[in-house]
Amino acid sequence: MLLFLFVLFAYILSTSYGQGQSSQFNEWTYNNYPSPFKNPEACRRPEPSFICDPNEILLARQDQVNIVLKKIFNDTDVPCYDDTGIKKSGYVVMIALMNKINRTFSSSYTDNTRAIHTEAAWFSYYVGETWHRDICDENVVILYSKEDGVLYTSTQSLARKKLSDDKVALVNLRNGHYFRSKNRDKILRGLLKVAEAYKLVLEGGNV
Ligand SMILES: *[C@@H]1O[C@H](CO)[C@@H](O)[C@H](O)[C@H]1NC(C)=O
Ligand SMILES: *[C@@H]1O[C@H](CO)[C@@H](O)[C@H](O)[C@H]1NC(C)=O
Repeated sequence: MLLFLFVLFAYILSTSYGQGQSSQFNEWTYNNYPSPFKNPEACRRPEPSFICDPNEILLARQDQVNIVLKKIFNDTDVPCYDDTGIKKSGYVVMIALMNKINRTFSSSYTDNTRAIHTEAAWFSYYVGETWHRDICDENVVILYSKEDGVLYTSTQSLARKKLSDDKVALVNLRNGHYFRSKNRDKILRGLLKVAEAYKLVLEGGNV
């Protein structure tokens, strides 16, 4: 049943992105948040990218982070093959930035921290499935919502074998201070630090 729902959601999502859609939200739900692969303009990117930043939290500096994410894809190895038997390139680490999450999963929650955590978990799960759907399970999604003050990473099962929840927690703990002030330069630095740490771990190193 769950699987069916997820497939259905993916279908709805893939049909709802208009070409060149430019509508701006301050609060986003998983189903109106754009894909940086399919709709880079709405993500404030000049070309298909691994990062989406519709509210321009990084202004024009998303590229510095995107370069690291591209390198992760290029320089890591996943034990998977495509339909033609060609070995796939590496882990797909994607970033979703937003001003605020429009809460849809946690309206009945009284504990705010738990509500934000739940929203971030579902949001990152859904956009990951929508942006890059694959049987290899090599996706990682880093979500940062500025007004909610949440930095969250979701990992699919193959990625989690290397980038375990413990390692994610450690990296986020070490770099959380970059995100607290909500200052653009610091957020950029923080995302670069997190992406570099994940790169190291996915290449087989340790943090
Ligand atoms: C949040 O989402 C709901 C349902 O899609 C929508 O009606 C509402 O206008 C959204 N709120 C904001 C602030 O965008
Ligand atoms: C990734 O690989 C492609 C194809 O080999 C290459 O054109 C590109 O420059 C590489 N990008 C990075 C960031 O390493």
